[in-house]
Amino acid sequence: MSNPVTSPVAIGVSTSGLKDSAIMIFGASGDLTARKLIPALFMLQRKEFLPPNVPIIGVARREKTDDSFRAEMKVALSKNIKGGITDGEWETFSKRLFYVASNLEEGADFGPLRDSVEKIERQQGVGGTRVIYMATDPKLFLSAVDALGKADMIPGAESPRKLRIVFEKPFGRDFNSSRQLSQSLSKQLSEDQIYRIDH
Ligand SMILES: NC(=O)c1ccc[n+]([C@@H]2O[C@H](COP(=O)([O-])OP(=O)(O)OC[C@H]3O[C@@H](n4cnc5c(N)ncnc54)[C@H](OP(=O)(O)O)[C@@H]3O)[C@@H](O)[C@H]2O)c1
Repeated sequence: MSNPVTSPVAIGVSTSGLKDSAIMIFGASGDLTARKLIPALFMLQRKEFLPPNVPIIGVARREKTDDSFRAEMKVALSKNIKGGITDGEWETFSKRLFYVASNLEEGADFGPLRDSVEKIERQQGVGGTRVIYMATDPKLFLSAVDALGKADMIPGAESPRKLRIVFEKPFGRDFNSSRQLSQSLSKQLSEDQIYRIDH
């Protein structure tokens, strides 16, 4: 399997557009994040596609500090980047990593998550596009999108802010269930906010 994020285009943002962006990973304590997403994002940095101020904000239920998340991601990179990474590369990468604990289940309140993300964005000097990578059980897709809507985190077409949500595979179990999922998502999101990924 190849990395799901190999270029900024794959996550729906042009290279120049990334400079004012924040990247959030829902499911940030999972296997996909450690083995594929963080290494892929690191490679974007190495190839100079990811400006140093762009934050990567991990989100999952279990409590962690920014520092413990950074330590785990350092181990992940050491295992998954062939040839390893330099101290300088890690210094830049670690500074962009943040972690916010939040539940994505039905009825979740994203108010505290939104406040933490806004604080990180102010600190990093970004405020344009948010890219959310749903690296979670597909059962959580709809409840997470619902919570984003309730927390006013889904900008409308006229807003200067943009949202791109990448839905990790499997996107439904078959044609009918994937169509049903698309229909449910379209109640909250416009098609240009939805990225269905396979890899
Ligand atoms: N791993 C791969 O290589 C791979 C390949 C293709 C597709 N996928 C798909 O990608 C998705 C993630 O896979 P994975 O292997 O990374 O799974 P995983 O290791 O089980 O990780 C799941 C992540 O979701 C979080 N999570 C679970 N319930 C949550 C909740 N209610 N609220 C917030 N966060 C929650 C978990 O953290 P907490 O327990 O801390 O909440 C964890 O970070 C799955 O749908 C899988 O089918 C994975």
